Amino acid sequence: MVVLGIETSCDECAAAIVVDGKTILSNIIASQIEIHQPFQGVVPELASRLHTEWISKVVDEAVTEAEIQLHQIDGIAVTNRPGLSGSLLVGLNYAKGLSASLGKPFIGIDHVRAHLYAPHLENEFEYPYLGLLLSGGHTIICIVKGFNEIDVLGTTIDDAIGEAFDKVSKYYNLGYPGGAAIDKLAQKGNPDAFKFPNPRLKTIYKKYDVSYSGLKTAVINQLDKFWNGKDEKNFENIAASFQKAAISLFMKRVNMALQDTGLTRVAVGGGVAANSLFRDSLTKKAQKEGVDVYFPSHQLCTDNGAMIAGLGYHYLKEGEYSDYSLTVSARVSAFKSSVWKKNI
Ligand code: KG4
Ligand code: ZN
Repeated sequence: MVVLGIETSCDECAAAIVVDGKTILSNIIASQIEIHQPFQGVVPELASRLHTEWISKVVDEAVTEAEIQLHQIDGIAVTNRPGLSGSLLVGLNYAKGLSASLGKPFIGIDHVRAHLYAPHLENEFEYPYLGLLLSGGHTIICIVKGFNEIDVLGTTIDDAIGEAFDKVSKYYNLGYPGGAAIDKLAQKGNPDAFKFPNPRLKTIYKKYDVSYSGLKTAVINQLDKFWNGKDEKNFENIAASFQKAAISLFMKRVNMALQDTGLTRVAVGGGVAANSLFRDSLTKKAQKEGVDVYFPSHQLCTDNGAMIAGLGYHYLKEGEYSDYSLTVSARVSAFKSSVWKKNI
């Protein structure tokens, strides 16, 4: 089954052709980074306008690079939630138009689930597993029982981890987007130059939840309070210390979740899954515990059409289609949650 995947939820205009949820024939990503760079963040109105201008060309390129004809696709998968509404609408309406003109089915896809599907595109592994999603908009620790069955154990109670990277970077003018810039800078810094706060959310129901707004504010506003006084107060040291705090805060919850669930596989997704300290920390932990860990390659960590097409295949294969009344949603879908947590 040949599926065209379309992704326009934020600032990447992306399309891909994937066969049977696995083989990527093309994966075109037109990034708007340069356009949003002067604003140090995504400007929603600009993003949707650019998607409108680019979407046809990006889909054409995906089809051409896959060396197929458009009529050879069996279905279309398109992100319809969560994300920037104006941007999502461009991809969704394009997919609807294509579906009508080709007479092929389409399915609306949840972006969060698609990120968690990304590691399946390059690895063979079974359900269930511990799923970790770290992106600009989401931070989720969950049990993935099937492509459409996810139990959330923990999530952020305020900012997403990627948001913290981006805002710290914006404040210090380190580069945009912030995650990759801080990752690079941190290689040259001392992670112990500052000892930033590591919030503990004490109640049992919040065991796996994380909070990033306190850390973000501390790095931005209260440097002196957390400085060790021995190392220089330079950008490299701030980046390294912030990165250490952000990743270890998350890894603490991952360690607990591994221990409590007894799961022996972990798969990760989202832009922050490209972070070198996170990849090292999780790999080391996995080796120590005899747990298998599956990372997407860097291109599949951040937003892309292949993960949308890959996940879409599983719905389309089961005959699950969307109809033309489907609309977009800026909000995260309600995943099953807490029931499992209460039983720990
Ligand atoms: O998954 P993604 O492309 O978009 C969302 O769905 O949010 O993730 C983008 C996020 C941004 O916050 C970006 O700063 C972060 O991923 N990111 C990184 C790295 N590369 C991208 N964060 C930390 N380290 C990196 N190497
Ligand atoms: Zn994303």
